[in-house]
Parts: sequence; C-alpha cells; structure tokens
Amino acid sequence: MTDPYYVTTPIYYVNDVPHIGHAYTTIAADVLARFFRSAGRDVRFLTGTDEHGVKIFKAAAEKGKQPRELADEVVEHFRRLWKELEISNDDFIRTTEPRHEARVREIVRRLVERDEIYLGKYEGWYDEGQEEFVTESTARANDYKSAISGRDLVRYSEPSYHFRLGKWAPKLIEHIENNPRFIQPDARRNEVLSKLRQGVEDLCISRQKQKLPWGVQMPNDPDHVVYVWVDALSNYITALGIPDIGDEHDGEHAKYWPADVQLIGKDILWFHAVYWPCLLMALDLPVPNCVFAHGWWTSEGRKMSKSLGNFISREVIAEICGDYSVDVFRYYLLRTVAFGADGDFSHEDLRQRYNGDLANGVGNLLARTVNMIVSYFDGKVPEPGEPGVDEREVAGAAEDLTSSAEQAIELCRFHLLLDKVNALADATNRYIDSTQPFKLAKDPEQRERLGTILYTCAEAVRLVLVYLQPVMPATARRGLEQLGATGPDRPLAETGAWGALAPGTPVHKGESLFPRKT
Ligand code: MSP
Repeated sequence: MTDPYYVTTPIYYVNDVPHIGHAYTTIAADVLARFFRSAGRDVRFLTGTDEHGVKIFKAAAEKGKQPRELADEVVEHFRRLWKELEISNDDFIRTTEPRHEARVREIVRRLVERDEIYLGKYEGWYDEGQEEFVTESTARANDYKSAISGRDLVRYSEPSYHFRLGKWAPKLIEHIENNPRFIQPDARRNEVLSKLRQGVEDLCISRQKQKLPWGVQMPNDPDHVVYVWVDALSNYITALGIPDIGDEHDGEHAKYWPADVQLIGKDILWFHAVYWPCLLMALDLPVPNCVFAHGWWTSEGRKMSKSLGNFISREVIAEICGDYSVDVFRYYLLRTVAFGADGDFSHEDLRQRYNGDLANGVGNLLARTVNMIVSYFDGKVPEPGEPGVDEREVAGAAEDLTSSAEQAIELCRFHLLLDKVNALADATNRYIDSTQPFKLAKDPEQRERLGTILYTCAEAVRLVLVYLQPVMPATARRGLEQLGATGPDRPLAETGAWGALAPGTPVHKGESLFPRKT
C-alpha cells in the first residue's frame, strides 16, 4: 500500500468524562479514516488523551485523587465510548506514556539547542480551564473572566521559558496566505490571519514545578515543567515515533507525517493554527496539510450544561444509540450541520431526520427493491436492457454522487456527501413511483423493461449503501448483504462506480434497516 493518509483528533482532557463534542470530532475523523481506507490509502488514525497540566491537577485534587489515578479512570470512559461508537483508530496516545514524555523532552531539548527557547518571566493572566495565557487587553475585554467558561482568570507571576513565536509569525502568515487549505473553513482562516497580522508575542512554554508538579520536566531545568499545550500538541508526532530518541518506537510511523488533516473544535484553533506550525517550523519539520476547525454543539437550543439537564454525556449518547443505533447517531451528527458550522442537537429533529432520510428514504428503497427482485425475478438481480429517458434522473444523481464523493470527503464536507447520497435515494424512490414496476410485472411483454428498472434500483441503492458505509458501517453492511453485494473487499474505485452489481447476484429479504419511529 502506498499513499499514506494521516488523520488526528484533539487529545481530550481527562478531568471529566466524554460528551457529544468529543464524540463529534472523533466520529468525523473515523469517517475520513474509513473512507480513505476503502479508497485504498494507507491510513493512520490517531486519537488519545491529554493528561497533564493544571486543569487535571486541580480536578484530581478536588476529587481527592492523584492526577494519575484520575487519568487512569477517565481514560477508560474514552476508550469505551470509542469502542461503542465503532471508532477505528489505529493508535491511542496518552500524554503520560513514556514514549510520549521522552519525545516531548527531546523536542524541547532540540528547541533549546536551536536557541528557540529562552528564560524570561511570565507576568499576566491565565485561563486554567483552557490552559491558555491571556493578554491584558483580552482579559480586560472579558472582565478578567474566561471567554469560554466564564470562570475567573488567574494571575501568574513567575520565571518561565519562552518560545520565539514572534520570530516565526511572518513565515506562518506567508504559509497561510499561500496555502488556502491549511486552515479551514475559510472564515476561520481569515480570523487567524487578521489576529496574526496584529502581531504576536513570544509564547510562555513552561511552569514552575513548585507551582505545578504535574507535567513533563523541562530537559534543561528540573525546576520547570513543559507547558501543557506544547506537551499536548507534540502528541501528533510523538505517536508516530518522531523524533528518534533511541527506543523501539523510533520513526515507527514517521512516513505519515505531515498529517493530511487535523480535526479540532473552533475553541482550540489558535493553538493548532499558530503555536503548532511555528513549533514545527522551529524544529524544521513540515506543517500539517490542513487544520479543520468544526463548530460547537448546543443541546435543545441551549448551551450544554449539567445543571440545565441538557448535557449529552456518554450515558445520553448510549441511550440515543439504544433508541436508534450507533450508526444513526453518527449519521445525524454529520448530516445535520455543515462541518465547520455550529449545530444544535434536538431529539425531535433527530426523529424527523431519521424518518425522513433513513426510514422513508434509504430503508424504504432497499426494502422495495429487494422485495420486487424476490417476487419478480426469483431473488436474482435481473439483466438490464438499454437505459432510456426514465433512467436519466437516477443515472444523473448517481453520477453526481460518485464523481464528487472523494472531493467532498477530502474537504470534510460530510453533509454534502450525505446530501448526494439522499438525493440518489430520493430520485430512485421517485423513479419507482413513476415507472410503477409492480404494474409492469403483470405484463409478460414488459419483462425486459422490468429488468432494467429493477437493476437500476438495485444498483442505485447499492451505491447509496457503499457511500454511506464510512458513516454507517454496520447498517450499510447489513443492507449490502441483502443485495448480495458484500463479497471480498474491493477498492472503492470498483465498488463505488455504476455497474459493479453483477446480474444474477442473489438478493435476500432482511430486517428493515430503519424501522419508522413514531
Ligand atoms: N486537551 C485539549 C486539546 C489538546 S489537542 C493537542 C482540549 N481538550 S477538550 O477535551 O477540552 O476538548 C476537546 C475538543 O472537544 C475540542 O476540539 C473542543 O472544541 C471540543 N468540544 C468541547 N465542547 C464541544 C461542543 N459543545 N461541541 C463540539 N465540540 C466541542 O481542548
């Protein structure tokens, strides 16, 4: 296999259990990984947990635990949720693992060696929820509270090491200007650019160990630990075995760097679009091809909060998956909002989409098609005759889907792919209504025509299922089994094109994929 493809999610804090926001990014990354695996690329998909820093340290203390103990407990919730949601990650990195910590020290050592880091003093504000240094003007504008959590900012005053971020900013601006895909969506890219053009200060990259003992020790100074964001961002390369440090992981997966796409939420864009590429440039490593910042979910029209009772925790996700299915949950998240925009989760909207797109659309199409082939052609896909005018709309919708799917996925336009999948299912359902095969079946002279119609339906619904597969892996497989179209794994270049369904293939009636919900 050639053509590596590397996709990452943020590594999640272990101060608390996972929720819909974490699930969203990880599902989106999983869809990319599954799609490109099916297209024959050599995929690496990384996720993991961010376990150091003041946020975890304080959360553990509040619970009367050691940070490591808390991390060990919470990480299991993430692992379990990813399993439940059919996430196909190839690796899971924890920042407390020796393979990571040793490489973070080596990264910092190299930065020190290159004179990219110097000892200074940090005097200013810190957002402990976001683990972010906040400038005086931003702090003042937000009344000295966190723009994200609303909690009070904390005053820090201590000696600390600084990274020469300011030195790299002009080069970064040039890179962003020359590579429109580097930061996506465009609106976010513009935000980053305009903020960068206002100038950036060097970045404080250490904390005094006596104030925060929970972190990776600075290689050049035992009294300091590495700033949690430098530690965390490094995971994207440490997990690949970069840089070499003389252990068994050296360069293990180095061929995957630079990442093809790094998915994140909009609140952590600055870290990924500015700090991360500048650190990489300072290390003389390539920057990722794309950092894609998605929007945030609210729930039933309001910001998620445990006290409001609208928090979509792992338990609530499990309930939704129990009521519908894991695949329906995955589908809903990617179908409802354009990736990049904010979205609102609502049970009523989910029910409507389910009934509209899935029960009445794809599910109904598959059931009708299989039933008719069983009734009129002894359960074998008929030989099609010459397509005519009636087939045009379905053929057009299929062409639209197959020709644009890869690009849509490449650009993380999941909703566009799903729009096209639904357009094909709808066009085919309309085609059945207008051509009325159940009437033609009564006339032996229409046998060839009937064969053409049912072949067209079977092939269209097969394509619908093939392109739904990265989003709904288990359900699409069940549908494809009914169509006799699972067989040995073949690349998308073959299965994703019109005409791959061989006449004579036996179909089987099966359980409804999407029973209607009232
Ligand atoms: N640990 C850092 C990331 C380090 S990456 C090198 C972190 N962790 S987090 O657990 O707080 O957040 C992880 C992700 O969840 C972020 O991308 C954030 O945008 C996302 N979300 C948190 N709440 C969200 C919603 N309500 N909706 C969608 N995503 C949200 O940040």
